[in-house]
Amino acid sequence: MPKNAVITGWGFYAPTRVMTNFDFEKIVDTSDEWITSRTGIKERRFAADGESTSTMAVRAARLALERAKLRPQDVQLVIVGTCSPDYLFPATACIVQSELGATRAGAFDVEAACTSFVTALGIARGMISSGTVENALVVGAETLSRLLNFKDRGTCVLFGDGAGAVVVEASNASVGVESVVLHSDGSKGELLMVEAGASRLPASKETVELGKHLITMQGGEVFKLAVKSMADAAEEALREAGLGLEDIDLMIPHQANIRIIEGVAKRLRFPMERVFVNIQRYGNTSAASIPIAMAEAEATGRLARGDKVLLVAFGGGFTWGAAVLEWFGAHDGVRAQSALDRARDALEDVVDRVRPL
Ligand code: UT7
Repeated sequence: MPKNAVITGWGFYAPTRVMTNFDFEKIVDTSDEWITSRTGIKERRFAADGESTSTMAVRAARLALERAKLRPQDVQLVIVGTCSPDYLFPATACIVQSELGATRAGAFDVEAACTSFVTALGIARGMISSGTVENALVVGAETLSRLLNFKDRGTCVLFGDGAGAVVVEASNASVGVESVVLHSDGSKGELLMVEAGASRLPASKETVELGKHLITMQGGEVFKLAVKSMADAAEEALREAGLGLEDIDLMIPHQANIRIIEGVAKRLRFPMERVFVNIQRYGNTSAASIPIAMAEAEATGRLARGDKVLLVAFGGGFTWGAAVLEWFGAHDGVRAQSALDRARDALEDVVDRVRPL
């Protein structure tokens, strides 16, 4: 019988170094007023020397495992969503697996830019419901500060670093991740990219001098497509889950720009009071933004057991997607419930076998 995938643990890590808009006034020709009014961002966090995507991912993952009361050696799968991995390879997920001591887990990275977390959650859900694994650690983590061009005011003020993680477990409970929808349009890839440093344009003195190893973005074009795509994906995920917007208690969108978030809410006619926003404190942390927001929403009392949650993301690729889930909260119920259901299934088996006798 297919199992539901339920989030049983969550956690996040934000580096301690705060970069305010005023700090950027000293770096590029910008102002706190411009950044705040055009993006909603007031400050973001930058990783310290010695921190990287894997170190932040590990910190978030430990909190999620602790919350789920799951031992690292019992984790069966580690997926890290990121577009700023420690290395091209090995996968950041393997470094996380090793640091955690998740000795029995498979591990791989997912790269779908800002949609990476929703994508990774979809993969975890599929592998759990098919019975391939019983649990998965799903992380979104980024160190975008290392890919920023501090001469380009159009991008360097937007992004930040951080990590968020969830534990997803199999359960016979009727709740869980109810739908995940994913989309892409690779023809728009050049509008948001890091051009150099991989196989098509290997790193060279020239690529570095031209800043081609750093993020470039045609923000206006991205903006235009983001609002419609996110709204469409949200509606599709709801349809697939058999729910309407009126059923949703909290929308947790990817935090790229407050105007995009408000645009999505307006298009869906969804009240902003039920949208979680923390972009003012973290900027755009790409794959990390949704799991960080989810953990903060829980910590601040915005998420309670039974709440229906809508996740929606858009990013480079282009990629976009959405997920609908019911928030379960504490882990104990999930395993108790699945143990109970297993016992019930076994009993029904016995009854079926003895009935003809
Ligand atoms: O994570 C998923 C992918 N990313 C996104 O979803 C981001 C999507 N895009 C955006 O959020 C917005 O397009 C931006 C915030 C990037 C830019 O906002 P915009 O309202 O689209 O501004 P713009 O690019 O059209 O630029 C307007 C003006 C330009 O000046 P001129 O040509 O009108 O004189 C820019 O040079 O604002 C200027 N500008 C700035 N001024 C002060 C651009 N960046 C800055 C800045 N400070 N940091």
